[in-house]
Amino acid sequence: MLNAPTTELLNQLRHIVGPAGVLDQPQDIAPFLVDHRKLYRGRTPLVLRPDSTAQVSSILRLCHGARVGVVPVGGNTGYCGGATPSSGGHEIVVSLSRLKRIRHLDPDNYALTAEAGCVLAVAQQAAAAAERLFPLSLGSEGSCQLGGNLSTNAGGTAVLRYGMARDLVLGLEVVLSDGRVLDDLTGLRKNNTGYDLRDLFIGAEGTLGIITAATLKLYPLPRTRVTALVAVAEPASAVALLAYLRSSGSDALTTFELIPRIALELVCQHIAGMSDPFDAIHPWYVLLEASSAQVIDHLTEEISHTLARALADQLVRDALLAHNASQREFFWRLREAIPEAQVRAGGSIKHDVSVSISDLPAFIAEGAALCRRIAPEGVLVIYGHLGDGSLHFNINTPDGGEHPEFFAKKSALNHAVHDLTRTYRGSISAEHGIGQLKRDDLVQFKQPVALQVMHAIKQALDPQGIMNPGKVLAAEANHQTPSGRGVGADTPTASAPP
Ligand code: FAD
Ligand code: MLT
Ligand code: ZN
Repeated sequence: MLNAPTTELLNQLRHIVGPAGVLDQPQDIAPFLVDHRKLYRGRTPLVLRPDSTAQVSSILRLCHGARVGVVPVGGNTGYCGGATPSSGGHEIVVSLSRLKRIRHLDPDNYALTAEAGCVLAVAQQAAAAAERLFPLSLGSEGSCQLGGNLSTNAGGTAVLRYGMARDLVLGLEVVLSDGRVLDDLTGLRKNNTGYDLRDLFIGAEGTLGIITAATLKLYPLPRTRVTALVAVAEPASAVALLAYLRSSGSDALTTFELIPRIALELVCQHIAGMSDPFDAIHPWYVLLEASSAQVIDHLTEEISHTLARALADQLVRDALLAHNASQREFFWRLREAIPEAQVRAGGSIKHDVSVSISDLPAFIAEGAALCRRIAPEGVLVIYGHLGDGSLHFNINTPDGGEHPEFFAKKSALNHAVHDLTRTYRGSISAEHGIGQLKRDDLVQFKQPVALQVMHAIKQALDPQGIMNPGKVLAAEANHQTPSGRGVGADTPTASAPP
């Protein structure tokens, strides 16, 4: 059992970080008590904002000794309630936002060492200033933090070329649950010295320790980018186009995102300045981008040529190449504004699934049919990272109204989509993690042996169970049930992170 913090412990914790690192007034704590999607509400007596690894270590040593739960928080943009404390009110929130220095940038080693609270966009800018690319790219990059990105193993729109957050890490500094510091901040690309400890903490969502810094892989800064918006008849054409582009030698492909007509319409309807760039209406679109570190015109030629061939073969219905930066930004905005447009359109029931790319067309067709059968009034908004086999399989309310009868079908819809994912040997969380939202689903969908190993790792690294209790794996400590519309349902009023 975890304990409630005593007044003495709270004072000791305050002392560790000093007045500048303490938030204990209701109005200051409030943003940390609710997740980005407003699905969960929790309570805490104290938010600590340490500004050094040593302070994080002292906090965890004390909490470990007192058996008091600790919830790490980054930019609080996560989708699964992972950074929200439980409603019991006994867990200490540790915000990494002051631990945000860029410690070292080594252009020759193509490596950047930054602290966990560094905002993703700041890390990208620091790399760019040194003519390097840090390729992790998410719609939330102006608010989310590196520690949160690594703890959720974030994906985004450049996974096709550069991989998930996990693939971009060379080394980590982590404070273990008992306060010991695991200093594995190496810039090595080759290091076969036993178990890969780094990978344990990536994607652990704060349940095994607190990441305080990371050494990240950089890449050559792209000097040429070719961006196109392509209209296709169906997802199968998009999958075929991807194969076409790859077999035509385009290993420069960085992004390949599927957009349904309804998403384009929602963006045009709800986001200022957006409109349909095509003359005709098409059922599906692909945003694709290829990039190269060289200044080369032939990349544009190569992509145009392949698209022309795809048009001639009737694989593609129409295609627009971005001819300048503002067109490129417009195409990107059409894709990146989809989540915002969806929120403005009303609540939605979300799924974040992956199957193998070749299975995507059949999966989409079967999944859509299942959802239509359960909730014919729902609006299917299925979009995402087709190039990675990853889809946001969302169902919106009919017209933005409250529709309790629609949200009452949430559990049936979740089961239908997740069961179908299982039949395709897919994943019920492609990139957003587990947190509180999918914790109970994990038990259903993860292999029993894999779960046993996860529990053994948790027991070994956090024997007191103080790290982010009730997230990813069930814990003894209280965990709240979702408020309002419940698990997987977005509110139209979801707001910016703290
Ligand atoms: P938080 O939400 O603060 O925390 C997430 C989890 O990590 C929690 O469990 C928390 O306890 C833990 N944590 C945070 N910091 C640490 C630390 N230093 N040490 C240990 N544990 C820690 N996600 C994608 O994968 N792909 C997308 O394309 C994408 N697009 C998005 C677009 C928008 C508009 C929004 C709002 C979100 C999007 N997300 C996306 C989700 C979200 O931004 C990512 O999951 C992101 O990585 C979370 O980072 P954060 O700093 O906000 O973490
Ligand atoms: C995206 O790809 O846009 C996000 O991961 C999904 C979302 O923000 O809902
Ligand atoms: Zn996504």
